[in-house]
Amino acid sequence: MDLGLRDRVYLVTGGSKGLGFATASALVAEGARVVITGRSEESVAVSAAELGAVGVACDNADPGTPGRLLAAAREAYGRVDGLLVSVGGPPPGSVTAATDEQWRDAFESVFLGAVRLAREVAAQLGEGGSIAFVLSSSVRAPIGTLGISNGLRPGLAMVAKSMANELGPVGVRVNGLLPGRIATDRMASLDAQSTPDQRTATLATIPLGRPGEPAEFGRVAAFVLSPAASYLTGVMLPVDGGMLPGL
Ligand SMILES: NC(=O)c1ccc[n+]([C@@H]2O[C@H](COP(=O)([O-])OP(=O)(O)OC[C@H]3O[C@@H](n4cnc5c(N)ncnc54)[C@H](OP(=O)(O)O)[C@@H]3O)[C@@H](O)[C@H]2O)c1
Repeated sequence: MDLGLRDRVYLVTGGSKGLGFATASALVAEGARVVITGRSEESVAVSAAELGAVGVACDNADPGTPGRLLAAAREAYGRVDGLLVSVGGPPPGSVTAATDEQWRDAFESVFLGAVRLAREVAAQLGEGGSIAFVLSSSVRAPIGTLGISNGLRPGLAMVAKSMANELGPVGVRVNGLLPGRIATDRMASLDAQSTPDQRTATLATIPLGRPGEPAEFGRVAAFVLSPAASYLTGVMLPVDGGMLPGL
């Protein structure tokens, strides 16, 4: 199947590592061009060179970020066809322990940053444009150790669904991706805070019996962003090896 990605141009925030990098890699492998971001200038430069992409060091929480990325894409490639919003996840901890400052910081980068990026990029997309948010299985079921994620992700999922309704009439699709446990740096650092018994118990909740590889997530995300998924919008798609217990 041809995904129709050749020469299309995508912005991928948080694309220097993890799920964003895996998605950028899959897009590039299918002939797309990408602009990737991350806050660390060094890691953006290394990953952009590996992908043959444009790299921009910036923070999703910064109101200037969407404008900078749109300008970078236009200057390098002359067009923009879509956006993947990934970003560092909220800090671990229970709802009862999270401070106001942690909620505010996470809201700025994870929530408002994503909404602003999607809104400003959507305004520049034409028929066939596509936006996807990297969310979490916490959209549908709380994760014990991630109270702030449990609070923010379901709201973002409804933002994505609302945008799908608002932008469908102009031919722009909006979807959410719900990773379960994919083997990235973030997952490794969360795992380092749990015991071997806890990790074994978590793996036992995954019907496929293993964490996902970033490339397995990246291929799904690239398909959702691509013209091959032209009738898919307003969907929250788990990429979790069957981990979520309900539909
Ligand atoms: N991996 C999983 O299984 C899983 C499961 C559920 C949900 N998620 C969510 O999916 C998202 C991506 O996870 P991941 O595993 O790919 O994480 P990761 O391996 O830590 O990668 C995060 C990427 O985002 C960049 N980033 C972090 N904060 C940023 C900011 N404020 N502005 C711009 N870029 C930023 C990082 O680069 P810099 O640090 O240089 O900025 C890096 O490129 C997270 O929100 C995570 O909570 C992941």
